[in-house]
Amino acid sequence: MKGSAFAPATLSNLGPGFDVLGLALDQPRESIEVELGVGSGGIAIRAEGPYGDRLPLDPKKNVASFAVEKILELHGRPAHASLRIHKMVPPGSGLGSSAASSVAAAVATLRALGAPLDPDAILDVGRRAEALAAGSPHLDNVAPALFGGFVAVVGTDPPVVRSLPIPKTWALAVILPHLEVRTKDARAVLPEKVPMADAIANLRNLSGLIDAAIRADLASFSRHLVDRLAVPYRLPLWPYLEDARRAAIGAGALALEISGSGPAMFAPCANMEEAEAVGSAVEKSLRARNLGSTRYACRPGGPGALHS
Ligand code: HSE
Repeated sequence: MKGSAFAPATLSNLGPGFDVLGLALDQPRESIEVELGVGSGGIAIRAEGPYGDRLPLDPKKNVASFAVEKILELHGRPAHASLRIHKMVPPGSGLGSSAASSVAAAVATLRALGAPLDPDAILDVGRRAEALAAGSPHLDNVAPALFGGFVAVVGTDPPVVRSLPIPKTWALAVILPHLEVRTKDARAVLPEKVPMADAIANLRNLSGLIDAAIRADLASFSRHLVDRLAVPYRLPLWPYLEDARRAAIGAGALALEISGSGPAMFAPCANMEEAEAVGSAVEKSLRARNLGSTRYACRPGGPGALHS
């Protein structure tokens, strides 16, 4: 019995929505195939694609095989499967690599079983996979990887996800410096308490951001992409950010923000031409620091694994 699925790369946090907001991109996408009952028992992993060689092949450390195992366990089936991962979402990028893997693997396994795609069960497995990969069960990449679109995680235990509107005609410049930032390390620098004024600023910005998405107001959306709960503490992890921001704004963007714990950055743009120009200017600023990068010009709110 075989099943397959894809799951998209995702932006998370989106400025003030730390651990709450997530957005599916239309590319890159991870694809995974699961075949049940083959091999000599256990879960055999084959990783291919541009980032396949960066995945752990030990099933205890690999989030995709973790998801396969947990779904099989839920259905009373032995952990006996082979798994082929076409790894397109770069690990340690801030683009939801572990969420794309665990969600695509869970959906592919349910398809191989011929079982219904129960979103609650998949979110629960995704949350536990994030805890394995990053030491924290955040859902802001898992939820958009599963449902697609722009989402808010409004409940965590049990997970509750609400879909928000976002204009599909907007574009995004997404630039990934060739560095790896481990989410676990980026969470370790966060304080336990934050000043009240920062919490209030985030509430204001979060309200403004969602309002701007509803009204399709790109300038207001960009203006509210400001976080005071996590980004200020993580700045030392992203020494290129200020130069990159200047370059993006010089090329016509209104804001450039980090996705998740980085190192990837994104700038909302009015159209694909602007996204190309902004991406290229940011890449130039990175090259000036001897940093290579990969860039994507994306549409926001692509489909999730449920629709793959
Ligand atoms: N919300 C998470 C964080 C996303 O910023 O730690 C991790 O990519």
